[in-house]
Amino acid sequence: MQLQARAKINLSLVITGRRPDGFHELDTLMVPLSLADEVELTERPSGIELAVEGSGLSNGPDNLAWRAADLFFKHTGRGEGVHIRLKKNIPAGGGLAGGSSDAAAVLKGLNELYEVDLPAAELAQLAAELGSDISFFLQDQPALCTGRGEIVEPVELHQKLWALLVNPGFGVATPWAYQTYAADPKKSRQGRLNLHIVRKAGGGEKVESFHLRNDLEPAVFTKHLWIPEAKEWLAKQPGVQDALMSGSGATVFALTGSQADAEKLLEAARANFGSETWLQVAEVNPA
Ligand code: C5P
Repeated sequence: MQLQARAKINLSLVITGRRPDGFHELDTLMVPLSLADEVELTERPSGIELAVEGSGLSNGPDNLAWRAADLFFKHTGRGEGVHIRLKKNIPAGGGLAGGSSDAAAVLKGLNELYEVDLPAAELAQLAAELGSDISFFLQDQPALCTGRGEIVEPVELHQKLWALLVNPGFGVATPWAYQTYAADPKKSRQGRLNLHIVRKAGGGEKVESFHLRNDLEPAVFTKHLWIPEAKEWLAKQPGVQDALMSGSGATVFALTGSQADAEKLLEAARANFGSETWLQVAEVNPA
């Protein structure tokens, strides 16, 4: 069975408080991208086997995809196993939630492969046990995520957007980013781009507007000076509607209204950042 595990960006990440469990209360608008890892699941009589291609990530139990399979088998009491082939296209530790997306693909895929038919709410519970942003990928559509990020309300985003993703090749540890924020919770600046979403929860239709914003930026910027510089450069380029760090970084994205503008920006970014820097054009919320 072949699955696509898409990346995400946070168009808005607002921290609204600290929880008794040490996590932070979030209000975040997440959207899937066309950039995706490839996940292939093959039935095995027993045991979990993982083969990761395209990154130095572990093939063992510390990989979130392995843990997702383990949790699924333990929870359902199934005796079978699985071979997982993971082709990584999403940079690890880059704020694009590649690992979380892989884990969600494994949960969804095993549920189908072994015809277990766990209801969506039960799969979401398993996802939340594994990490805060895994539930989002079970639905794989623009969503407002609250709580630790695991409470997912799908929304509609009508603007057509393209993103140029820029990753410097280093990762930012998410726990460190939140701890640094907690030690000095500086407010982030909201961006210039105004986005509109439609919320349909509760039966009605409510249009809300959003500015790009990421409350983890000031904390992460104190150590990783490359990120604010890249963001500032991207925001000034022609055709760019706005730029922001995704999640806890280090990936920065610039939004354009067309693929052509994003491709032009890719060329300019290649000249500016150099050929060593990972650059990728992706469609936001692909059909
Ligand atoms: O849940 P996940 O494994 O993605 O979280 C990684 C770390 O990020 C947590 O251990 C916690 O330190 C921090 N975090 C947080 N508040 C959130 C999500 C994550 O403090 N809502």
